[in-house]
Amino acid sequence: MNAAPINQRKWWKEAVVYQIYPRSFKDSNGDGIGDLNGIISKLDYIKNLGVDVVWLNPIFSSPNDDNGYDISDYKGIMSEFGTMEDFDALLQGMHDRGIRLILDLVVNHSSDEHRWFKEARSSRDNPYRNYYHWWPAEQGIPKKRFSFFDVNNDAWEYDNATNSYYLHYFSVKQPDLNWENPLLRKEIYDMMHFWFQKGIDGFRMDVIPFISKDITFPELPEEYHGNFVKYYAEGPFLHKYLHEMNREVLSRYDVMSVAEGIGVGTDKALEYVAPDRQELDMLYHFEGIGIGLLPYEFKAADPNGFSLIEFKDLYSKWDAVFAENGWGTIYLGNHDNPRILTRWGNDSPEYRNVSSKMLSAFLLTMRATPYYYAGDELGMSNIKFDSIDDYRDIETINMYRQMESRGEDLSRFLQNQKITARDNSRTPFQWDATENAGFSTGTPWLKVNPNYTTVNVAAQEEDPQSPLNFFRNLIQLRKKELALVYGRYVLLDRDNPHVYSYIRHWEDTTIIVMLNFSASEANAHLEGLELSAAKVLLSNYPDERKGMDTLTVLRAYEACICKLNSANFRNNGET
Ligand code: GLC
Ligand code: CA
Repeated sequence: MNAAPINQRKWWKEAVVYQIYPRSFKDSNGDGIGDLNGIISKLDYIKNLGVDVVWLNPIFSSPNDDNGYDISDYKGIMSEFGTMEDFDALLQGMHDRGIRLILDLVVNHSSDEHRWFKEARSSRDNPYRNYYHWWPAEQGIPKKRFSFFDVNNDAWEYDNATNSYYLHYFSVKQPDLNWENPLLRKEIYDMMHFWFQKGIDGFRMDVIPFISKDITFPELPEEYHGNFVKYYAEGPFLHKYLHEMNREVLSRYDVMSVAEGIGVGTDKALEYVAPDRQELDMLYHFEGIGIGLLPYEFKAADPNGFSLIEFKDLYSKWDAVFAENGWGTIYLGNHDNPRILTRWGNDSPEYRNVSSKMLSAFLLTMRATPYYYAGDELGMSNIKFDSIDDYRDIETINMYRQMESRGEDLSRFLQNQKITARDNSRTPFQWDATENAGFSTGTPWLKVNPNYTTVNVAAQEEDPQSPLNFFRNLIQLRKKELALVYGRYVLLDRDNPHVYSYIRHWEDTTIIVMLNFSASEANAHLEGLELSAAKVLLSNYPDERKGMDTLTVLRAYEACICKLNSANFRNNGET
């Protein structure tokens, strides 16, 4: 199988998705919180990146227990972010510039301040009672369910008013919705129609594998302890619901859908995205971002870093899943992960720019739709807070409290959070070298990374070698060379611990990508490939290589994308 036939081309396969965390992008009114008008004021910046789709994290009415992932009105706009008129203007402004907009669909849970939940908790026979999961206390204490954001790590909360427990996989203010109830499902589909009729172009679906649960809530088997994601995800009716959602809503519009594929492995991925199943278009898995973390500990980074061979094997394994069916995604960071530069590159001043460009080269040359998080194009890095007081994220704060009450090692926890905490990627976007990085004239809701004086858009606009301009060049290259989108992926030099090399081959085009993931010079071993006629398309060092003769030696974090003579690849590379 060479490549996707032309009739399988889709706009969302050829798109670059740019993810914006609205709270941190641009504040228009000086309250320290990013907002919709702030994004509107930066639409030309977004347009000039060359991206095709913007994914906005939740912008809906919310008491902000989890920064908008606790929704109190799915058809309202969060007051800090603006109004529905602002939203309409934002959508129009994007469409005027040829940019599509996708929103976050957060329907595993709502806020406890949603009208449905207020009704539901008021009495056992309220019509909304069945919109949520309840356990009547006269049946005893429910079987243990762990919670991601609960101070006591308990997903059942006792509610006095009706002498019952309700389920919340996330915080106590995020009660889980009951998808078994057809009335709830209809409400969700109606709400999706509401946004599609406004003209949005798709949804990113928050923890969607969790929506179906075994509602008898049996005892968790022993082997699942500590690995509850595996047990929570992919309940018995998940695919029935997704298929229904497709039939009732998604199939009626020209839109894209992407699942947050928490807990989804390569064996199950196609169940979500194989076109003939008529469910979703894409999903993003969690396996990649788990590399380099210590097992059985909460987000603790391995002091030895990560193994590039493991990294290559994993991304190659995932590429293979979609080689003949469905379509993949690629990302290294987002609002739930630290900055990619700190986690996968090198954030020291010496290597910041070059390693950040190398990571962008990886993301923009794989066979998958890239999901690229705002700020990574500048090489923004982790802020690495010293004190728990600087954190705003419920995940970090409640985990700290949990560990505190168990008497665990808090300084070790804080040390690890410097590498892995979500707030690292949520610090305000760095526009320029003025106060607060040009993000806000007020006090930002989360501290600005002090490196904004040098790492910012204004400075990088001026510099043709900047990570920002390199990102733009990569996007242009991906648009020009369809091989980078649809071309077959072939891993080369698999056992090389420092360099990741691969080929992208489509019709008459063969492109080779070489990425040095290390801070020292390293060789790419490309024996058997005829490289003499190769042409350098893009490199992240200013003194671009002229040809390929010296190509196998790569400088620290060097990334090189070259076009080969296809005939030679066919002769040699495929064996
Ligand atoms: C998803 C979101 C994350 C949120 C959680 C609960 O993982 O990406 O930010 O905290 O779901 O909604
Ligand atoms: Ca604001």
